[in-house]
Amino acid sequence: MLKKLMRKKTADIQLLDERMEAVKNRQIPNHVAIIMDGNGRWAKQRKMPRIAGHHEGMKTVRQITNFANAMGVKALTLYAFSTENWKRPRIEIDFLMNLPGEFLNTYLPELMEKGIKVEMIGDMDALPSHTKNAIMKAIEQTKDNKGLVLNFAMNYGSRVELVHAMKELAEEVAAGTLKVDEVNESSIGSKLMTAHLPDPDLLIRTSGEVRLSNFMLWQLAYAEFIFTDVLWPDYDEDCFLQAIEVFQKRDRRFGSLEGDQKR
Ligand code: IPE
Ligand code: IPE
Ligand code: MG
Repeated sequence: MLKKLMRKKTADIQLLDERMEAVKNRQIPNHVAIIMDGNGRWAKQRKMPRIAGHHEGMKTVRQITNFANAMGVKALTLYAFSTENWKRPRIEIDFLMNLPGEFLNTYLPELMEKGIKVEMIGDMDALPSHTKNAIMKAIEQTKDNKGLVLNFAMNYGSRVELVHAMKELAEEVAAGTLKVDEVNESSIGSKLMTAHLPDPDLLIRTSGEVRLSNFMLWQLAYAEFIFTDVLWPDYDEDCFLQAIEVFQKRDRRFGSLEGDQKR
């Protein structure tokens, strides 16, 4: 029985390797954005407190980050805490605010070893100082790394981001340093927190919810969307590879009649 199980496991790993090679020979999405959802339900299914789901979800972050890096993805944006998540109970918020510190304290050496660069979008100033310090330390330490950009969306809300961008442009217009005609897609994009990143090619949301929950509304204008019922703590390499395989079969037309157009 055990031998049979082990043979199956070896066969699964071989298959995963083969699929990985095939996927790597086709176009890999440059920027993948993930709404990591379903931690609470994962815990509930196991009669555990919600925070146990968040803790387990952190392990998935590590696994998917390493896998995305190995696949040659350039940027991975992970929605970790939204501007709306402050509505949750204090105890859950406190736990979530401890996770960046725990994650980065544990995995920073591994991120360095793999050349992964940590970044963050969202309002950092409103985070507790220990959360902010942990993130700032990781950003500083990994700033020269040349591998995957691991971008955490933390206290992030797309509408707030857009309001800030519009205000900045309005101020420049009022000061006479920008013409009204220069308020365009590129100047708006340049004021967003993602200004230095390409728009996501692929958005994944786990847990069966089919909505954006105020995530990258501008940047996702032409992304491919994949929704899966898998809960975030159960999401694994196989799920991620499958998402890329589906992405590679999509016909991206960007409004034209022919497929595989560049935007
Ligand atoms: C996602 O899991 C993590 C965060 C939003 C921080 P949830 O906590 O939303 O889990 P569900 O949706 O309640 O299952
Ligand atoms: C979105 O998930 C935010 C994150 C994953 C960080 P939520 O669980 O907060 O979204 P809603 O409330 O179901 O829309
Ligand atoms: Mg949720």
